[in-house]
Amino acid sequence: ANAPRLAPFTAAAWRVEADDFAIRGFEPARRGKGATLAMTFKEPHEVVGNHIAKYQAMKLAKMLMAYDFDRRLNPFAELGGFIFTFMGDGKPGTGKTTLIQMMAGLISGYCETAGYAFRYQNLSTDNIDSYQGKSGQNAKAFIDAILDPGVIGFGTIDDIDQLAGKRGDRQSSAGQLEITAVLMESFAGANTVVRGNCTFGMFSNYPENVDDALRQRAGARFLVDGPQTREDYIDILHLLMGKNHAIPLGAHDLYGAQEIKRAVARSFESHAKPHEAGLLNVFDRVHAAEGELDTIAKLGTYLKAIQEADARFTGRAIKNITDAVKVRAMDFELPDAWMEEPELFLRKGYDEKKAMIEALRVPITTEMVIQEINRYADSEFRYADKSDEAAVEAMVRDLARQEEARRRYLEGKG
Ligand SMILES: Nc1ncnc2c1ncn2[C@@H]1O[C@H](COP(=O)(O)OP(=O)(O)O)[C@@H](O)[C@H]1O
Ligand SMILES: [Mg+2]
Repeated sequence: ANAPRLAPFTAAAWRVEADDFAIRGFEPARRGKGATLAMTFKEPHEVVGNHIAKYQAMKLAKMLMAYDFDRRLNPFAELGGFIFTFMGDGKPGTGKTTLIQMMAGLISGYCETAGYAFRYQNLSTDNIDSYQGKSGQNAKAFIDAILDPGVIGFGTIDDIDQLAGKRGDRQSSAGQLEITAVLMESFAGANTVVRGNCTFGMFSNYPENVDDALRQRAGARFLVDGPQTREDYIDILHLLMGKNHAIPLGAHDLYGAQEIKRAVARSFESHAKPHEAGLLNVFDRVHAAEGELDTIAKLGTYLKAIQEADARFTGRAIKNITDAVKVRAMDFELPDAWMEEPELFLRKGYDEKKAMIEALRVPITTEMVIQEINRYADSEFRYADKSDEAAVEAMVRDLARQEEARRRYLEGKG
């Protein structure tokens, strides 16, 4: 920089129009380039039910926008409450892929307003390669593209059970295991730096087929159970029927049940008690012995009791739960206006953004902690029950086949 006669270089600026690639003197290109997305986005009202998942996805989309390109850090990542990895599970056809389309659409829209580069990628079965090591490389390239601190990134692994195998499972291919290893390392390895510019979502119909350790690296869990109530079914029918008909709606408050604030509060309250029978047993036992779980000691006692019922309830589970509680402390949505008018928030300096976010924080209550313990432990119990059940069912099927084969064989001989 001290050398003479540099002006012709430092003063010059070029831009490659086709790629939106700018060079100004010796300054490093500060922002990466997004890719044009070929995806049909969905609006939030086009996702019926799935309240918590939808609410968290909407919140997370806004949270990403608080990322500061100069500091290369997001105040949410510093304050706690940033969701770096999450997992959505639910039966086929309940709206997992739809949820991805909604979230990508929101982020893409916000980024366009803010003038940030947005990068979306999905890791799919196309990335499994028969060459040794290539699947792992593909997964690494996917992770690196999304982690790029010069962009806002959203990476998804839709139908992750097809992609990431379970270690020790005879049916997992080498490529699947490579992908599992890369994802585990990237999501919570020693080298993981969470800047808060990107988030990874894993989605699955069969989370019990996903490696336990990998699943536990999903910081947040959402049950994507699709439409549930009569109102939900009316809303989804109306939505998917489209406009080209004259059938009257009838007596119904259209999309009233989808109003997010009310629905989310209801969903969270439902976790005051566990949903899974196994966990409910533990909860009732601890509750009878300890009374209201209103101190750290009593809450810790509950955690220990859960661990006695499910050995996988390790330190990482507690970390995930406390992370989820911190997210709840951030249980406010960044105002829409902040996304629409960049001057109000997005263009401010890092410290100012951080202060604005801190001012919105809400206090953590014991109810929140209990709800989050139950929500997380419920999902682990759900997987555990299903996982054992699935294995037993498969063996029963095998035995029945063997029996039938023996019968036919003996019949043929006789
Ligand atoms: N909760 C939902 N809200 C709105 N549409 C839904 C919902 N669940 C399913 N659908 C409809 O069903 C189709 C399949 O849903 P999809 O999101 O692909 O399911 P999944 O990925 O969970 O298997 C979608 O195209 C959408 O039209
Ligand atoms: Mg899907």
